[in-house]
Amino acid sequence: PGGADFIVAANRLPVDLERLPDGTQRWKHSPGGLVSALAPFLRSHSGAWVGWPGVPDVEVDELVEDDLRLHPVALSAVEVRDYYEGFSNGTLWPLYHDVVATPVFDRGWWDTYVKVNHRFAEACAKVAAQGATVWIQDYQLQLVPSMLRELRPDLRIGFFLHIPFPPTELFMQLPWRAEIVRGLLGADLVGFHRPGGAQNFLWLARRLLGLEPTRGAVGVRTRPGVIQLGDRAVRVGAFPISIDSTGLDALARKKETIARTQQVRADLGNPKKVILGVDRLDYTKGIDRRLYALQELLQEGKVDPEEVAMVQLATPSRERVEHYQRMRGEIEQIVSRINGEFGKVGRPVVHYLHQSVGRAELAAFFAAADVMLVTPVRDGMNLVCKEYVACRHDLGGALVLSEFAGAAAELTSSFLVNPHDLDGVKKAMLAALTIDPAEGRRRMRALRRQVLTHDVDRWARSFLDALDPEHGH
Ligand code: G6P
Repeated sequence: PGGADFIVAANRLPVDLERLPDGTQRWKHSPGGLVSALAPFLRSHSGAWVGWPGVPDVEVDELVEDDLRLHPVALSAVEVRDYYEGFSNGTLWPLYHDVVATPVFDRGWWDTYVKVNHRFAEACAKVAAQGATVWIQDYQLQLVPSMLRELRPDLRIGFFLHIPFPPTELFMQLPWRAEIVRGLLGADLVGFHRPGGAQNFLWLARRLLGLEPTRGAVGVRTRPGVIQLGDRAVRVGAFPISIDSTGLDALARKKETIARTQQVRADLGNPKKVILGVDRLDYTKGIDRRLYALQELLQEGKVDPEEVAMVQLATPSRERVEHYQRMRGEIEQIVSRINGEFGKVGRPVVHYLHQSVGRAELAAFFAAADVMLVTPVRDGMNLVCKEYVACRHDLGGALVLSEFAGAAAELTSSFLVNPHDLDGVKKAMLAALTIDPAEGRRRMRALRRQVLTHDVDRWARSFLDALDPEHGH
C-alpha cells in the first residue's frame, strides 16, 4: 500500500549523512559514477531509492532529499567492515578489475555479504508496490535479484553492473562463484557496460549451472542473449552508461562557470598549458601512471615547468581499505617529488587536492584544462572523460584516455593509451600538449557528437525498455 512503482537499489544513497564536529548532521552528495549517472534520471521519474546512508550505526527514517524519496538501509560498523570494505571492496572490486590488487577470499566477509544483501532485498520488498519495477545496481548487491524474487515474485527486476565483469578465468577463482551467478539470475535483465562482460556471464552460467543460452550473441545494437530458467527468461545484454550531457553542457556555458574558469587559470599563474586529472583516489585509476609520465617529461626537459601546471583532484575514497592507503601514500610522494624538484615558492607544478569538489567547480576545471588525463588500468566505463567532453562547447582541450576504460570504445577520437606503457603515455601527453588547434577541434567535435547523442537518459531508457518491452520509458 502506497508503495513505489519504480525503485532503484544501490549500496549508497545519492547523499551521504555527514556528522559535523559540533555533533550536528547534514546530507552531502555521494562520490562516484553510479550516483552521478542515476540521480538525475531518477529525479525526473519520481522513483524511490533504497541504499545505505554512508555511515555506520545510524537508523534514519525514510526522507525526501533533493526531490528524491530515500529509504535508508542501516549497516552496523562490523557490517561496513565485512560487507562494504571487506567483501565488496577487498574481494570483488580487485577481482573484477583484473586483480590489479590481490583479492582476499574471507569466509566471514562472505557471510556478512549474504546477510546484508538479504537486508536490501527485504527493504526493496517493503517499498515496492504490486508489480513494481526494481532496478538493482552494482557489485555490492549481486545476490539481491534472486533474494528479492523469492520474497516478491510479482516484481520486475533489473540488475546493472557498473564495474567491469572479469574474464572467466579470474571469476572462477571466487569460492562463491556459483552463488553469485545464481544471485544475478534472479533478475529479468542483467546488464553490463560491454558485450564482453555479457558474454563472460553467459559462459559462466553454462559452465557453473549447466544453463545453455537460448539466444547467444550479445551486443549494444543486437538483441540481448537469453537464458531460459523454467518458465522465466533472463535477458543478458550490454548497455554502456553515460552522463547528463546536456545538463553539463549548459552548466559549462553559464556566465558564472566561464568567469570561474578564467579565475582557475589565473590562480594557477596563467600557465601556457593546464593539465588535469579528476578521479576518486583509487588504485585502478592510474593516477600514479600519469604522474610518473609527467615526472619523466620534466626530467627529460620535454615539458617546461614554467609553462605547465597540472591539477590533480582526488576524491577521498574507501580510506580504511589498505590498498587505498598505500596508493594515497604513493601518489602524495610522487607529487611532492615533482614539486620538490621542479616547483618554485608559490608555484608548484602539480596542484593536488585530496577533497571532493562540487559540480559547478568541476565544470570550471574541465573548461580550464588543455589536456585531460584519464589513465585507469581498468575501469568499467569512466564518466569523467565524458564529463570533460560535455564541458568543451568551445571545442578546446584534448583528451588522453586509457584503452582499458569502457569509454575507450566510444571515445575513439581521443589519444588512446596503454597506461602500463609509460613511453606511450608520455608520447600521448606531448601530442595532446602540442596539438594543432584545428586538429584539436576536429577531434573534440567528434567526441562531443558521441557524448551529446548518448546521454544517461538514453542509457536508462534502453535498459528499461529491454527490461519491460511492453512499456515505453
Ligand atoms: C564506483 C562504483 C559505485 C560506487 C562508487 C563510489 O563508481 O561502481 O558502486 O558507489 O564507485 O565508491 P563508494 O565505495 O564510495 O560507494
